Amino acid sequence: MAETKRKILATYALPYANGSIHLGHMLGFIKTDIWSRYQKLRGHECHFICADDAHGTPIMLSAQKQGISPEEMIAAIQKEHEADFADFRIEFDNYHSTHSDENRELASEIYLKLKANGHIKTRTISQLFDPEKSMFLPDRFVKGTCPKCKSEEQYGDNCDACGATYSPTDLLNPKSAVSGATPVMKDSEHYFFDLPAFEEMLKEWTHSGSLQQEMANKLNEWFEQGLQQWDISRDKPYFGFEIPEAKGKYFYVWLDAPIGYMGSFKNLCDKRGDLNFDEFWSKDSTAEVYHFIGKDIMYFHSLFWPAMLNGSGYREPTNVYTHGFVTVNGAKMSKSKGTFIKARTYLDNLDPEYLRYYYAAKLSSRIDDLDLNLEDFAQRVNSDLVGKLVNLASRTAGFIKKRFDGKLAKLEDTSLVEQFIAKKDVIAECYESREFGKAMREIMALADIANAYVAEMEPWKLVKAEETLEQTHQVCSNALNLFRILATYLKPVLPRLSADVEAFLKIELTWESLEADFSGHEINAFKVMMQRVDMDKVAKMVDDSKENLIVTTPKVTEDKSVEQSSNPLADDPISDTIQFDDFAKLDLRIARIAKAEHVEGADKLLKFQLDLGGETKQVFAGIKSAYQPENLEGKLTVMVANLAPRKMRFGISEGMVLAAGPGGKDLWILEPHEGAQPGMRVK
Ligand code: MSP
Ligand code: ZN
Repeated sequence: MAETKRKILATYALPYANGSIHLGHMLGFIKTDIWSRYQKLRGHECHFICADDAHGTPIMLSAQKQGISPEEMIAAIQKEHEADFADFRIEFDNYHSTHSDENRELASEIYLKLKANGHIKTRTISQLFDPEKSMFLPDRFVKGTCPKCKSEEQYGDNCDACGATYSPTDLLNPKSAVSGATPVMKDSEHYFFDLPAFEEMLKEWTHSGSLQQEMANKLNEWFEQGLQQWDISRDKPYFGFEIPEAKGKYFYVWLDAPIGYMGSFKNLCDKRGDLNFDEFWSKDSTAEVYHFIGKDIMYFHSLFWPAMLNGSGYREPTNVYTHGFVTVNGAKMSKSKGTFIKARTYLDNLDPEYLRYYYAAKLSSRIDDLDLNLEDFAQRVNSDLVGKLVNLASRTAGFIKKRFDGKLAKLEDTSLVEQFIAKKDVIAECYESREFGKAMREIMALADIANAYVAEMEPWKLVKAEETLEQTHQVCSNALNLFRILATYLKPVLPRLSADVEAFLKIELTWESLEADFSGHEINAFKVMMQRVDMDKVAKMVDDSKENLIVTTPKVTEDKSVEQSSNPLADDPISDTIQFDDFAKLDLRIARIAKAEHVEGADKLLKFQLDLGGETKQVFAGIKSAYQPENLEGKLTVMVANLAPRKMRFGISEGMVLAAGPGGKDLWILEPHEGAQPGMRVK
């Protein structure tokens, strides 16, 4: 039965343009890529759209810190992101930026429609304001003492120590994480999207599609809690789009971020000419729109976004497909353990198809977290892809080439081939429903059957006698046909491997070609298609991911909390050499370590009070691996004394300490000796 050709738009969450892509992000990109490649393999019209999410306070401040414009920074990061994706063979139909003309126009248009329809409210709110930086402070940029348990150095939205949630104005002794100044309260008019007005619509929307069970539960919970008006404006300075008819007010990054899906698609339509934007987004569209996302951003995609679309006259998404979080070796990704692995670090060491397969093998349609266990990863890839899949061809192809003119036989017994083809609907349904793990198990069960067949027939023995030569031809041709079917089934997951198989078999692997007859078909010589996973390379990848620099400068993001301490140089795609003038700016001083202590919850950090001969500064440094804090007190170090104070996850750091050595346990700080006095200039 010929299926009708579907029109599908698939998106993956837009990564923020102020950090590198890591293996956590890659789960969602790989998942969406597999799904959309599958749709294309089935002959559907499917467009996979993404973009960098370029706006917001963290991006603005991050560019400032680097001394470049936000435009320069987001351009550099986008380039890096796109290179990572290309190397992981993520096949976007378009990759754009939310900081684009298309997005500006769409965001303004949607906002003005919402406003005209009475869905935008304004009211004055009072917020913490940094008088030094002249900016309002997002919750995450205020730190202070928890009003409940009195723990110090807590974020403005919740307490790490006791779990209390509060508003930043409740913090005792609040400080701006941007400048260290004491914030003041200041009034400002804000614009709100009237989410509660959409409750009925949203309830209907949730019941119209087949939402994931966990998502439906979450939504019910949110409905029970009651929907709130959503603050969509931010005052300048802000990196984003200015709100039409509201001078000095900007759209909050999350307002224009999902519109970025449309903006990127619009950009594609304009480039191609044969695609119609309205066909996908108008109210009466019959196309399918799916947003793939991680579980931390469900609220935005299942409440705000459909309501915004509805309130501005567009269609709602067909569905939102949510995945869980990646853990590595059973724990949250960690920089100190080397399990916070960037896409590039992986690519420098390992074949991207390994990870594509491993993630596929572990993905289901549910929202469970997924553990990337590195031992299991190597074992699984070696056993399935090398041991079962590639081995099937490597054991049989040589005979075809050498003994049978490189031509496949006409199969006398097609029962195995038929058995394999009979699985195609089951496997298709697994892909369609995002049960990739189940699909991989079905495919590997077939691979087991094929290998058992070859092992039983022993073509390497048959080939030795003239009377069993024809049988050798049959067995090897049979095996290669089974291999062809397996490679076709795996094509969405393993694009590079399947391209190699296509070159080897001189066939384009398509869903239709599954049932084609390849009697007499000539093939090429077999070449090695995949190496075994080398555990040394895995270890090197982990090692390369370990933070070696002593100084840690956590990055603050809008509303995410993966472990954020990071190597300032590695995170900076722009830094190169510095000029003498830059060096001259450094105020390097001898400092006496007056106090050194552990930092609760930090793997590598120590907290120092440094005596500069009168003045005392607080500095965090990542040298816990080398020292017990007690042994440090009284010793001397060199510190960068004029570094602007920085907000770190555990408090404000007012400088940087320098130590020498290869890192780990071998880091040296100066012993006190005559001649060096606290406060002395070093250069
Ligand atoms: N910019 C927003 C999304 C806007 S969509 C209109 C954002 N960006 S992000 O860079 O923080 O995250 C991008 C995606 O990566 C999200 O789907 C997020 O859930 C996912 N992940 C980030 N860390 C992850 C893991 N450790 N594991 C799995 N997915 C993770 O959110
Ligand atoms: Zn507390």
